Amino acid sequence: MPSTAQCRICGDQVNEFYDFGRQPLSDAFPAPDADHSSEFFFRLAVGLCQGCTMVQLMEEVPRDRMFHEEYPYVSSGSAFMREHFEGLAKRLLATEMTGDDPFVVELGCNDGVMLKAMAEAGVRHLGVEPSGGVADLAAAKGIRVRKSFFEESTAREIEAEDGRADVIYAANTLCHIPYMGSILAGVRALLKPTGVFVFEDPYLGDIVERTSFDQIYDEHFFFFTARSVREMAARNGLELVDVERLPVHGGEVRYTLAPAGERTPTAAVAQLLRHEEEQSLAEPAALEAFGRNVTRIRDDLTALLRRLKDEGKTVVGYGATAKSATVTNLCGITPDLVSFVCDTTPAKQGRVTPGTHIPVRTPEDFAADYPDYALLFAWNHAEEIMAKEQAFKDAGGQWILYVPDVRIVQ
Ligand code: SAH
Ligand code: TYD
Repeated sequence: MPSTAQCRICGDQVNEFYDFGRQPLSDAFPAPDADHSSEFFFRLAVGLCQGCTMVQLMEEVPRDRMFHEEYPYVSSGSAFMREHFEGLAKRLLATEMTGDDPFVVELGCNDGVMLKAMAEAGVRHLGVEPSGGVADLAAAKGIRVRKSFFEESTAREIEAEDGRADVIYAANTLCHIPYMGSILAGVRALLKPTGVFVFEDPYLGDIVERTSFDQIYDEHFFFFTARSVREMAARNGLELVDVERLPVHGGEVRYTLAPAGERTPTAAVAQLLRHEEEQSLAEPAALEAFGRNVTRIRDDLTALLRRLKDEGKTVVGYGATAKSATVTNLCGITPDLVSFVCDTTPAKQGRVTPGTHIPVRTPEDFAADYPDYALLFAWNHAEEIMAKEQAFKDAGGQWILYVPDVRIVQ
């Protein structure tokens, strides 16, 4: 029986449309000899608000369980993403930050991948980052970081110390935060009347179109659309004034909000709203169809891995992504089907994957003895990884992809 919940944006009823079952914390990689009976699990299910159309998780994981000293995700791991954030910093400097002594605040700055460019340009900046380990990496690069969760009280403290910001920016962070009322009240308190709040997150339109269901995991609480963001902004004294589709992480949208009435929305906003209408993105039927596609991919991937095992083939996972927790736990992929997963992140190496306990090893281990197949969990970095791993292909190795459907790439 699908459950209901209360919308974290408007308070109306959220109706569940897919249940991924019992899932672990996606970025908690236990030590191989850990007591696995203490591993934290919750029910991962996703629903649509019948009022404001915001898609969101049915259950919330307490934030301190996810974002803490040991949080292992480091943003600078991808060369493509480094360029993406440097490009954005340059653009903000040339457009929004041309006045006297501009000030930029980033929520979830992680290891400083974006703010590094601001610091190098000599611009006044502040990163707000609750995960101590990655915040230290940013500080080591000369970035000014405040180790805390952003919320209304934090915003007021920053405003009192540093004054108001020209730009508040957040990448792959806003969708992580269920307590949106406090966040947007904080944004309003901290932003200049002429300022902008710019954020980019996985786009529901792309998730539905490509069945990239592995974007759904504990940390991703909201799945935004132009329509739901416009509603969310309007309820909090802000206005959606621009949108831009981005090719990163399998398809995202960069939203720009301004204090209500300060800027004229661009034509891109109306265009994306129209596109969503045509896609029926806010209709339960479209999301139920997405759910059927998820189940089909689950069955196809499980059948393929079982067949390869029966044929005596070797399969290794590539990229111990947070996303892959949803895939491995939904499909029951354990070390008998995928012998190990390779990943460049030191904090993940030597550990095992959440819930399914597949060993995580280095890319060097992958290259030392190529498997027959590599299951590309970091499919959003496919181009970068396939180019880097050309020798695997030359040695006869084949990639397995599961977005938008299960297939083998020769
Ligand atoms: N911006 C980076 C990091 C994204 S990961 C990138 O796009 O690659 C999400 C980050 O948000 C984590 O580093 C996490 O610690 C941080 N975060 C989570 N909740 C937050 C909050 N309430 N305020 C500020 N940062 C938060
Ligand atoms: P990513 O897909 O960016 O995010 P998430 O964890 O939120 O799903 O994670 C990429 C992971 O893949 C990260 O653990 C680093 C790893 N990785 C490699 O091992 N090699 C690579 O070349 C790249 C680009 C990433």
